[in-house]
Amino acid sequence: MDLRSRHLLVVGGSSGIGFATAKAALAAGARVTIASRSADKLKAAADALGDGATHGVIDVTDDASVERFFAAGTTYDHVVVTAADVRIASIRDITVSEAQAAMNSKFWGIYRVARAAKVAPGGSLGFIAGFRSQRPGPGLALMSAINAAIEGLTRGLALDLRPLRVNAVSPALVDTELWSGMAPDARAAMIAKMAAHYPAGTVGKPEHIADALLMLATNPYATGTVLMLDGGASLV
Ligand SMILES: NC(=O)c1ccc[n+]([C@@H]2O[C@H](COP(=O)([O-])OP(=O)(O)OC[C@H]3O[C@@H](n4cnc5c(N)ncnc54)[C@H](OP(=O)(O)O)[C@@H]3O)[C@@H](O)[C@H]2O)c1
Repeated sequence: MDLRSRHLLVVGGSSGIGFATAKAALAAGARVTIASRSADKLKAAADALGDGATHGVIDVTDDASVERFFAAGTTYDHVVVTAADVRIASIRDITVSEAQAAMNSKFWGIYRVARAAKVAPGGSLGFIAGFRSQRPGPGLALMSAINAAIEGLTRGLALDLRPLRVNAVSPALVDTELWSGMAPDARAAMIAKMAAHYPAGTVGKPEHIADALLMLATNPYATGTVLMLDGGASLV
């Protein structure tokens, strides 16, 4: 993948899949801007990425914050959105407001960025959904609905925004900071259990998903593509 002279924005680039995407894009020659809510996290991430990385604060749950971020008028070649902060629980265990907050972060966050971002001709938008769109599990109906909504949005925007290309990746478990709230032993046990369960014999690494996001960004034939990149989780 050659991203020389391209400018990639990663919304959610301060950790996890977004950080790995920023790192891979820099290695492919791009200029990269990472954006998320926390200025401190962004600064640490940009320092770790090194030359070629800039950063800016955005809160994708807030219309005004998204409008403000893009008011600078920068035109990006590719925009990837990995930002989300969702609390998922069974329908009887969270309030409607809490469920709406999850949808507001992951689905409407993507929608807001897609609506506001300026993307150069030949460019793309790339989103993260999740394999639960196709494989619901107990207590995960809300996650299934959010991910299915993102996949539908991806296909619809590929028509609405053409010739801008719009794609998404739907992973199963990826070992990122998303899981850092778990006790280390419990996290390691969960990862070992899922790796044994998945046909690929491994959970995802952020780099696996980053590679796919950049492949979709740079492949001129890819639009409306939802790539199920899940270690085979949706098969078992
Ligand atoms: N990891 C998995 O197992 C897995 C599996 C399937 C799908 N996914 C999806 O993949 C995406 C990325 O997950 P990840 O594992 O990379 O998580 P992560 O390491 O927690 O990264 C999330 C990123 O989003 C940013 N963020 C959160 N809320 C935001 C907001 N309101 N506005 C702007 N930025 C925000 C965070 O930075 P700040 O805190 O600085 O805002 C951080 O940079 C999510 O949509 C997640 O649902 C993850």
